[in-house]
Amino acid sequence: MTRVRAHAPGRVNLIGDHTDHAGGVSLPIAIDLGTTIVGTRGGDAIDLRSDRADGHLHLPMPVRGDISSLEPVWGRYVAAVAELGGTSVGFVGEVHSDLPLGAGLSSSASLEIAAALALGVDLDRLELARLAQAAEFRAVGVPCGLLDQLSSAFGVADHALLIDFATLAITPVQLPSDCEILVIHSGEERTLAGSAYAERRAACEAATAILGPLPAASPDDLDRIADPVVRRRAHHVITECARVHGAAEALRSDDLTAFGAHMVASHNSLRDDFEVSTPTLDALVERLLDLPGVFGARLTGAGFGGCVVAVTGPGAIDEPAAITGRGWRVRAVGPAAVTPLHASEQL
Ligand code: GLA
Repeated sequence: MTRVRAHAPGRVNLIGDHTDHAGGVSLPIAIDLGTTIVGTRGGDAIDLRSDRADGHLHLPMPVRGDISSLEPVWGRYVAAVAELGGTSVGFVGEVHSDLPLGAGLSSSASLEIAAALALGVDLDRLELARLAQAAEFRAVGVPCGLLDQLSSAFGVADHALLIDFATLAITPVQLPSDCEILVIHSGEERTLAGSAYAERRAACEAATAILGPLPAASPDDLDRIADPVVRRRAHHVITECARVHGAAEALRSDDLTAFGAHMVASHNSLRDDFEVSTPTLDALVERLLDLPGVFGARLTGAGFGGCVVAVTGPGAIDEPAAITGRGWRVRAVGPAAVTPLHASEQL
């Protein structure tokens, strides 16, 4: 029996959304909000409670059969990780999370990676990220890319991660010391994100079949796509990848004004070309951009509701939570990790 604490950070994507599944680039940070699982490895069942959601997961090991109707729903992510991770060892413990759920901050990837580490699945960080990606599809059928999982598994304190999803190269980019990163919840829960996400991804695949890899294409190539919707989706991916490179360059030269301009252009592209924003998210971005000291703001993650990320100068917004009722000043932190616990240690 081994007592462990596994922690996996959530992430906020500064720029580069809906580019991972098209082999493009993104610039996320792992954040100081995440999922922690504490408990004892051993026995022949997983028994978990959550401090955030109702229900108790009781899962005889090894996981067999259909997990798509398992209750509580969050247990499906844990079951998928256990099944795909090929583990048959049980676990008794608790799940703690301070991430808003389903709000574009990777609550599910964070749970999956913490679960894999807690269960003792023995994989390197890249394999761990891939396992969590496969578990997402197995648990809830969302054909996501690797943005969330790589951010959690490869976080670097005080750095953004420039991730190239074609090569899986991850280049840490130092954040300027005078910039603050705020995450503001729009109050809008995401709806239909799974099917709308799959539909957006399919449009990018249709464009790739015509143009080849979108990150290597140019806006001039778009005339070759007859379908106007597919053309708009591809226009977003092509221009978003260019913005990510521009934004990384702006960070390197401490140019937060340029960085903010890329963020705003990214939001507009997600709104107009990729059509994953909502009037509530648009209004929140506008409201933040009107405040002094705010360099940029945009929706973050898949869209369809959830959170907005803003980059500001020091102290520009005193209390992020005061804007809509739920908001956080976040820091870039290191990667997911598991540590053994002594008998007397709690969280
Ligand atoms: C979700 C998915 C990611 C990524 C983002 C959008 O978070 O899980 O793979 O596609 O949306 O950038």
